[in-house]
Amino acid sequence: MDEPVEFTDIYVDEAMVDRATEVLRSGRYVKGPMVERFEAAFAEFCGTDHAVGVASGTDAIYLALRAAGVDPGEDVFVPAHTFFATVSPVLELGANPVFVDHDPDTYTMDPRDLAEKVAAADDPAAVVPVHIYGHPADMDAIGDVAEAHDMAMIEDACQAHGATDGGDRAGSLGDAGAFSFYPSKNMTVAGDGGILTTDDPDLAREARMLRNHGRDDDGEHVRLGLNHRLGELHAALGLEQLQHVDDWNEKRRAAAQRYTDRLEDVEAVTTPDTRDDTEHVYHLYVIQAPDRDDLQDSLNDAGVETGIHYPVPTHEHPAVAERLDGSPQVPRTERLTERILSVPMHPRITDTEIDRVCAAIERHYDR
Ligand SMILES: Cc1ncc(COP(=O)(O)O)c(C=O)c1O
Repeated sequence: MDEPVEFTDIYVDEAMVDRATEVLRSGRYVKGPMVERFEAAFAEFCGTDHAVGVASGTDAIYLALRAAGVDPGEDVFVPAHTFFATVSPVLELGANPVFVDHDPDTYTMDPRDLAEKVAAADDPAAVVPVHIYGHPADMDAIGDVAEAHDMAMIEDACQAHGATDGGDRAGSLGDAGAFSFYPSKNMTVAGDGGILTTDDPDLAREARMLRNHGRDDDGEHVRLGLNHRLGELHAALGLEQLQHVDDWNEKRRAAAQRYTDRLEDVEAVTTPDTRDDTEHVYHLYVIQAPDRDDLQDSLNDAGVETGIHYPVPTHEHPAVAERLDGSPQVPRTERLTERILSVPMHPRITDTEIDRVCAAIERHYDR
């Protein structure tokens, strides 16, 4: 039997090892120059004025909401089709998540459903579009709704480092952007880490205070803040990874194109679509299949690793469900979770591996 086709992989080079060694030997592990350098480099990458390094993508979302002034009890609009961590910060803040269905072509937040739900809401304060799987949400249309109702727009860009909409990068498309560097993401800091991006100097200042015990430049604790800081070692590794991410995204796009071409004639399978004038970064390559569980078993038998992102809609998780009044109306998301399957995707996947995955899918449907 051939080697398994792995779902993702890791990348380590000598430059990363040297950077890590440099920080280890420096003895400066927090609040040092590497975080500052990484923040400056990441802000430049996104085309924003500021970037604030934090301990995770979840923290970046939480701090962005707080720094944007979202208060407990206010309504925050989130897609139903996303990872739990888009929603948990909203609940942690004591705000009220309102679930929005997705656009069937791109799986990102449907601006029409958003507009209807905002119109019916008591206290709309913010919207958190997610660039799910690496495809930018429709920020123009969502932005129109946000502007009309004076809502903050926080991008959950945790899966979308380098993605573009109308030529502008994810992280620069809303009032603030939140990125994750969890190891499976398009770039990592070799551990947990995150960053918040923004053009708004007040929001950036507030986020910097909140990530560091709510402390201002005079050392006074003027906010109730916890410790959400990014460490020097992680920032140093992020600096190295950032140099590769555009190239890696290019390779992900080429791999996605090969999957799409190879699967074109497999009628049962739906391959991902993109909106015009966007650049998808394929954090995940997700297909739809009517018999998803059987297909997943067949791929598993053929030595192909797969995943489901996500098997349960966010609002159905007990920690969320028990805090909601009533069930959200998101029928498309509820159907989608039964059909989606993520196949191996990373920058170093080979054409042979992609062909093996596609051949196993074809065999499954030729039975
Ligand atoms: C869409 C989305 N939002 C939020 C997060 C949270 O990021 P982290 O795991 O770094 O806290 C992730 C990643 O796990 C994610 O994929």
